[in-house]
Amino acid sequence: MRLLTALLILLMSHIVTANELFKKADVSRGKALVEQNCISCHASSFGGNGSEIYTREFRKIKSASGLITQVRNCSTMLDIKWFEEDEINVAAYLNQSYYKFE
Ligand code: HEC
Repeated sequence: MRLLTALLILLMSHIVTANELFKKADVSRGKALVEQNCISCHASSFGGNGSEIYTREFRKIKSASGLITQVRNCSTMLDIKWFEEDEINVAAYLNQSYYKFE
């Protein structure tokens, strides 16, 4: 029983870091996908080259896993069906360039 409790605590305290999530990501593929699909809409709603949305003061994303979720939401809105691998490639690129979660 004590072992089970210890295991549970260990599991709950395990926070998945960006480094782990993006370990196998292909950042240059992520960059290409963002350039093809994601810039024009952000640029028309938020101005500039579309990247201000990632660096705005009240940006929504607070963690690497939140970033992956948002990438999924936005790509679903576009009706492009990305494999999870590409969602991660894109999130890894955005993280490396803008968010810098560790
Ligand atoms: C049809 C328009 C549209 C397209 C296309 C689009 N987005 Fe978005 N995106 C938005 C809007 C609007 C928000 C802001 C949502 C909010 O503030 O609640 C947003 C927010 C985001 C954010 C969070 C920014 C923050 O606050 O930190 C990320 C990350 C993101 N989009 C990624 C992507 C990616 C990756 C793609 C390409 C697959 C993409 N978006 C395509 C409209 C779009």
